[in-house]
Amino acid sequence: MNKYFINTYGCQMNYSDTERLSAILEQLGYAPAQTENEADFVLFNTCSIRQKAEDRVYGQMRKLVRMKRERPNLLVGITGCMVRESSTINSEEQDKLLKQEPVDLVFKIDDLPKLGGLIKEVQPDFKTPISEGDLESYFHIAPKRESKVQVWVPIQTGCDKFCTYCIVPFARGRETSRPMQKIVDECAAAVESGAAEITLLGQTVDSYGISVQDKLGGRVKIDGEIPNVVFNQGIFKGENMMASSDGARQKETAERPFVTLLKEIDKLKAKGLKRLRYSSPHPQDFCEELIILHKELDTLQPWIHLPVQSGNNKVLKDMRRTYTREHYLNLIKLIKKHVPDCAISTDIIAGFPGETEEEFMESIDLMKEMECDMAFMAQYSPRRGTYSAKHLKDDVPKEEKARRFHMLNDTLTEISRQKYAQFMGQTVEVLVERQDGQRCSGRTPHYKEVFFNSGRDLVGKLVSVKVTKTDNFFLKGELV
Ligand code: SAH
Ligand code: SF4
Ligand code: F3S
Repeated sequence: MNKYFINTYGCQMNYSDTERLSAILEQLGYAPAQTENEADFVLFNTCSIRQKAEDRVYGQMRKLVRMKRERPNLLVGITGCMVRESSTINSEEQDKLLKQEPVDLVFKIDDLPKLGGLIKEVQPDFKTPISEGDLESYFHIAPKRESKVQVWVPIQTGCDKFCTYCIVPFARGRETSRPMQKIVDECAAAVESGAAEITLLGQTVDSYGISVQDKLGGRVKIDGEIPNVVFNQGIFKGENMMASSDGARQKETAERPFVTLLKEIDKLKAKGLKRLRYSSPHPQDFCEELIILHKELDTLQPWIHLPVQSGNNKVLKDMRRTYTREHYLNLIKLIKKHVPDCAISTDIIAGFPGETEEEFMESIDLMKEMECDMAFMAQYSPRRGTYSAKHLKDDVPKEEKARRFHMLNDTLTEISRQKYAQFMGQTVEVLVERQDGQRCSGRTPHYKEVFFNSGRDLVGKLVSVKVTKTDNFFLKGELV
């Protein structure tokens, strides 16, 4: 039997896509390989967010060139965010990727249902049991989950925000929300198979069901940058999203679709769901109603990842982040008011074009003011085709970006150390994710990683652990 191996890069969304990619490969008759060496089909599910991410992919692909010379039948495929959403088969973009030795096959992740046909183009003898029409979209492919206990469920694809630095809207296309019932069904099936924790995924989850496409359908131009983008007809246009199976509409409410979705999924606690998370919301669409849910819904965990990107209003504007520092800090205040112990994390970019030292220091101040538990920091990297790459000069020198990055890191470490110290002596609930011999690790409701020892097999179980030591970024403890 032919075997496949997938190299995955990037965010949780990509890892989630890989679960669907694995499922379809197995339907096509491939079996998983342990290493690239024993694989007949090696795939790259790529990330494009920063140049470094792409360089990593190219580096790994170079290693395959020799392997392919020794085994000419080895098939190599590329998908993910390096394959632009706008590219169609045989487009210039894909041609360029295809010309890269050792690549045979380039496809957009949405074209996953067509994979059998694409393999056949390269290997005419390949027999595909799936015809293109079998699967309407890649969401219909039931994923082959890495973990049955902690599962990711994508609720939307693409992004409409067009932050000036970001490749995602180009890589993943227009924001499209999945119908609510489909998401609830997928969550229910996962819980049925033993899921204790569900993380809902999307680029801006809080705009679920309210994006331009959802509301309008039609054609939209964004600052003249994206000509004639055709939005699919909004799946929610004029419709209530919770249609019951017999087709009858439920009562219309003014509630935000994302709020309704969380409430619906929370009901799965009756079937065994313990924890619900989502990543990530966008500050523009985040609201008090959503914050309050964190205290009202039993499964919704006390952790919110709310990316800010900069603490300075001019930089935020140049980034097209559509909110102000004050708006963001007000949201933080509301979180602390309603859920005082809520863990909060964020994303920050250092060295955006034109960012002065003073402006950067406002990001440092903001981190301190919000007392973030965690932050993902990045040095600005111009991405081809984005507004900032075209129109804003990448004028913060490399060394200065690195210095700012380290300063953000040092600030985070100091805040985080104090945050973790607060858990000393407390008994925390841990969902065990890994076990290597006696050494177990998992996360608390606040998303803090905890290490402890046990002789019993605990993976997938919820256990109580008393914290005996705290570090900058993890906890240690003993089972109670
Ligand atoms: N949708 C999420 C972010 C997805 S991308 C949001 O809106 O916040 C993940 C992170 O990568 C971003 O939050 C940002 O901090 C970083 N990032 C994106 N593009 C970048 C670029 N060109 N250079 C540096 N960091 C970037
Ligand atoms: Fe990128 Fe902005 Fe969309 Fe996030 S919201 S994916 S940063 S364009
Ligand atoms: Fe990368 Fe695409 Fe995610 S660019 S961060 S894999 S959405």
